[in-house]
Amino acid sequence: MAYAKLSLAAAIVGLASAAPQISLPPLIPAIPGVTEPLGGIVPPLPVLQVPTPPVDSPPHAVNTTLRPKKIGHFWAGAGDKNHKDFLATYSLDDDTFGELMSIADVPSSGNEPHHSGPSADGKYIWGGGLLSLLKTQDTGYYFDSSNPYKPKYLKSDRALLSAISDDVAAKPGGGFFYTYMGSAVGTSPGRLVETDENYNIIHQWPEDVDGTLNILGEQFSPHGLNIDFERGVILTSDFVVPLSVLKPSLGVVGANTVRVWDLATRTIVNTLTIPNGNGIQDVKFIPGHPEAAALASAVGLGQVWIIYPFRTDSSGKQGTIERFFDFGPDAAGKVAIFSDITKDGKYAYFTVTTGNHVVQLDISDISNPIRLDDPKEVHPTIGPHFIKITPDQKHAVIVDYFLQTGDIGIVNTPSDYKIHYADINNDGSLTFNRTISFAEQFPERGGARPHSVSIFDLSNPAAPKYF
Ligand SMILES: *[C@@H]1O[C@H](CO)[C@@H](O)[C@H](O)[C@H]1NC(C)=O
Ligand SMILES: *[C@@H]1O[C@H](CO)[C@@H](O)[C@H](O)[C@H]1NC(C)=O
Repeated sequence: MAYAKLSLAAAIVGLASAAPQISLPPLIPAIPGVTEPLGGIVPPLPVLQVPTPPVDSPPHAVNTTLRPKKIGHFWAGAGDKNHKDFLATYSLDDDTFGELMSIADVPSSGNEPHHSGPSADGKYIWGGGLLSLLKTQDTGYYFDSSNPYKPKYLKSDRALLSAISDDVAAKPGGGFFYTYMGSAVGTSPGRLVETDENYNIIHQWPEDVDGTLNILGEQFSPHGLNIDFERGVILTSDFVVPLSVLKPSLGVVGANTVRVWDLATRTIVNTLTIPNGNGIQDVKFIPGHPEAAALASAVGLGQVWIIYPFRTDSSGKQGTIERFFDFGPDAAGKVAIFSDITKDGKYAYFTVTTGNHVVQLDISDISNPIRLDDPKEVHPTIGPHFIKITPDQKHAVIVDYFLQTGDIGIVNTPSDYKIHYADINNDGSLTFNRTISFAEQFPERGGARPHSVSIFDLSNPAAPKYF
């Protein structure tokens, strides 16, 4: 048994390092007059979908003359899943807030656009397709955002061993790391994918034998991803086995683990466990913390745990984890909890998707976290998930959409498809204020399902910020 596992691991390691990664053009060409009706008549199939080509995009008015300083690029799926998925670029400036400046279509539909993020220099945006795999199309989409008002679709790719895209981190010198939560067929293990500075996939970590044994030995479904490039540590948090979200399923299989990685060698140095965590969706370093502490959200428990990546555990390995905060019964057993923390390390926010609530914590004293929101207060949001603090630290962008698999799966979270631009008050609490409604913006595509955002702040031209 051990021997069989070892040789499998060695085989996978060999495969990973020897094989080039692939990038394919759209597999099925659009045929005018055939493509359009096809999208509407093909029934949803269990797991694998008929890879219908996308229906062409109807015209949509955009304002091409606006030049705002603050810009939000939202990675969204067409509401009807038949039209092309797209990156929608909006003004976030006060005087022109919510004006649409451009739409960059990708050449495929039904990807279930998921997380996205900009490169360190803001010239590229990557967006992943959570379910692209089901239509046997590429899983990662790259945009050229060198013109920040009008990004262009650049290319797509897929990795050889892994799929089901989740979070992304920009490498300081160009390129990305991103988490692929599943294997190439949607099971465990997934991989931590790395591109070079030309945005070509060069690795799917782990690639060493110990790491491969680690991820074959215990569910590896990396969703959350955060990297401290200065202190050389990567954290990935394991969420769910992707295939268990799709029919036929006996229920979603959540994970209880966070992997601590050494950045220099891209190797897993420890696997930390949150007992009964049942889906560790996200992990974020607390900026400026002297020990590089990080917070991880355990969805099953409705709790946050704190990781000290440089303390040693009882077996002498690097990394410890302990309970930090319990959000109470209203947050336990919900489908998703994503997070962000202000740059000063003082305030942390957690979206409880099916609780329709955003938890707000003052963590300026780590030994005494203070809850700023009232757990019983009703927030004007349905299905909040992705959250990002704006570079100026004045707002939180919260996107009200998680996942609707429709007939093919068992996860269908209610949503109002709104973007919230919430104000961060002086005490760190949030005031829900302005919104952009994606449900109303794109009727010609059956609405839109926005999942994530890349935020550009060009207020200081000498030091533009991309997040
Ligand atoms: C674009 O926005 C500017 C500022 O709001 C406005 O003056 C202009 O008329 C808009 N153009 C179009 C085509 O809507
Ligand atoms: C909402 O935001 C606008 C623009 O910043 C501001 O003028 C207004 O006071 C805010 N409203 C509330 C209720 O905070």
